[in-house]
Amino acid sequence: MTRLLHISGSPRKDRSRSDMVARAFIEQLGVTNAETLDLEAIALPDFNGAAIEGRYALIEGREVSPEMHEVWAQIDQTIEHFLSFDTYVFSVPMWNFGVPWRLKQYIDVLTQPGLTFTVSAEGVNGSAAGRRAILICSGALDIRPGQPGQELDYQTAFMKAWLGFIGITDVHEVQVRPTYGTPEQVEAAMARAYEEAAALAERLARAARV
Ligand SMILES: Cc1cc2nc3c(=O)[nH]c(=O)nc-3n(C[C@H](O)[C@H](O)[C@H](O)COP(=O)(O)O)c2cc1C
Repeated sequence: MTRLLHISGSPRKDRSRSDMVARAFIEQLGVTNAETLDLEAIALPDFNGAAIEGRYALIEGREVSPEMHEVWAQIDQTIEHFLSFDTYVFSVPMWNFGVPWRLKQYIDVLTQPGLTFTVSAEGVNGSAAGRRAILICSGALDIRPGQPGQELDYQTAFMKAWLGFIGITDVHEVQVRPTYGTPEQVEAAMARAYEEAAALAERLARAARV
């Protein structure tokens, strides 16, 4: 059975258009035991200077404060939880051409040497290899691949680069754009995204059966 984690990068709850399409996709996929991670609702450790220094100290076996042990226990736990899944569905709204800061914070917490990637003479080796990711990317502007302005998309491009870095190369995307415009334009964008999500779910479910 697929272990699917839905990571919601939008704070808009039921009004989130990327979440709406992500939920429909998961339903179409037929996964009934998906877990949702609402990044607005969970406590993420601050990845600040003390936490970074704490990591070096822990690696080198130096004394660290009890608070730092706690921060790193939280980071380890976040990574362990993430790696316990084999499929990820990310709801990713575009915020100022990139991703919302809570999603970026989650990614900064997850991306740790020796835990989600290792570096050797051969290069970078991602620890999440073999897993699958589906990106449901929303945005007010219609800058889908092939549209004018596509070069402004640091949202999908960043997500793909990061996933590749931690070893995930089986990546699929559905674009939910434009979510700003006349009601007809937005409805058409939603209808197209639902259709693409359903087709993708059907393709992935069929591939799993054969
Ligand atoms: C802080 C903020 C920044 C945004 N920046 C962009 C942007 O750079 N480009 C864009 O196309 N839309 C931008 N938007 C619009 C959102 O991407 C759009 O409303 C999208 O539908 C949000 O996804 P959601 O409904 O899943 O939350 C921004 C929205 C917010 C709140």
